[in-house]
Amino acid sequence: MVTTTDSDLMTRVEGEAPLGRLMRDNYWVPFALSTNLVAGDPPAAVRLFGDNFVAFRAPDGRIGLLDENCPHRRASLLLARIEGDALRCIYHGWKIDVEGRVVEAPTQVTRHDQFCAGVKVGYHPVHEEAGIAWVWLGGGDGPPPFPDLPFNDEHGLEMVMTISAVPANWLQGLEGGMDSVHAPILHRSVIEATLAMKGDTDTMGVRATFAAPPRYETEQTPFGLRQASLRPTEDGRTYVRMAHYFFPFVILVPNGYGSAVHAFCFAPIDDRHHLVFFGNYGTTPLSLREVSGALEGELPDPRNFAAFEGDRGDRWGQDRELMNAGHWSGFGRSAIAEDTAVQVSMGPVVDRTKENLSSSDVAIAQTRRLILDTLTGYAQGQTPPGSAQTTERVRVPQPFDAVLDAEASWRELRPAG
Ligand code: FES
Ligand SMILES: [Fe+2]
Repeated sequence: MVTTTDSDLMTRVEGEAPLGRLMRDNYWVPFALSTNLVAGDPPAAVRLFGDNFVAFRAPDGRIGLLDENCPHRRASLLLARIEGDALRCIYHGWKIDVEGRVVEAPTQVTRHDQFCAGVKVGYHPVHEEAGIAWVWLGGGDGPPPFPDLPFNDEHGLEMVMTISAVPANWLQGLEGGMDSVHAPILHRSVIEATLAMKGDTDTMGVRATFAAPPRYETEQTPFGLRQASLRPTEDGRTYVRMAHYFFPFVILVPNGYGSAVHAFCFAPIDDRHHLVFFGNYGTTPLSLREVSGALEGELPDPRNFAAFEGDRGDRWGQDRELMNAGHWSGFGRSAIAEDTAVQVSMGPVVDRTKENLSSSDVAIAQTRRLILDTLTGYAQGQTPPGSAQTTERVRVPQPFDAVLDAEASWRELRPAG
């Protein structure tokens, strides 16, 4: 049973809210697609945990992520000129380079270089991995090593990645990612379209997914949670789909199409908005068209994948004619457009005390329990799961699906290779 206080603890991320502080101090945070940041482009607006930043790419490929307001007298650096590997504020011409150093301050006439060296700039290290730019907001002497995630470039897999901004609290997005029971319902038309494109509608995984809602079991791990969704097969065995939740932002879900895995990351913009990164990776990942489930017509832009507009007055953009023509949800652009619409329709921060959880919502309950327990432990000095350490690199193994014999336990399963 979630209380109002629990709900606040799990959803509030701005300022000194305990969860936002925990996230900023312990994890690399995804904030942009790499392709969104192009050398020479104007500074990009970034907002995380209710704070504003600007990002830009230098000609040599490095990304600078700075607090938005100029360290001189606080004009927005979104207005800045781009000068090679630096931004120059248009107000009085201070120049700040890609690593956060003030290299020119024309308003300072005496002891210029010493003055510049003494100005503290809000600068935050960036790491690119899997087509995503991640920022370290945790301060410290230097950023800890980036975790070993199964989609990292070092594993040599292909990745198709998208980004969308969603006007709803981050936990609504995360819970959607943990809740695989909705997939064959809400995303029925998308899945059918993807299967038609793949020409492979009769795999064990696909049949089991459509046949019955799963039973969930979870297990805590050093990186967060392993979540097994278990469905009976026609021959009396069990189809298990193992998803990995890398606390607190990343969910990896095998999708039943060969080796391809769906990857989701949910980053808080502020209390009422989040970013969702949705992609697919593997030796042969789904194409952008297959990921979207858009059978024909223009492909959604990966840099604004949900392209969400609308509000209650227009049913959040739902197309009733499309529904009359046979589409399940009336959101034909992609599965993420469907997720976005239902999550936004709950209101920006859903009141969880008014829910009625059912048996297959156990993964949701477990996720909330993990967040609350982690907050309690952190307040008592414990290290949160998957926390980036300077000494040891966090590792998240590849998730997978499998068919289990009657007497076998999913807990013993490990991915091949
Ligand atoms: S406010 Fe930016 S240089 Fe003065
Ligand atoms: Fe979904």
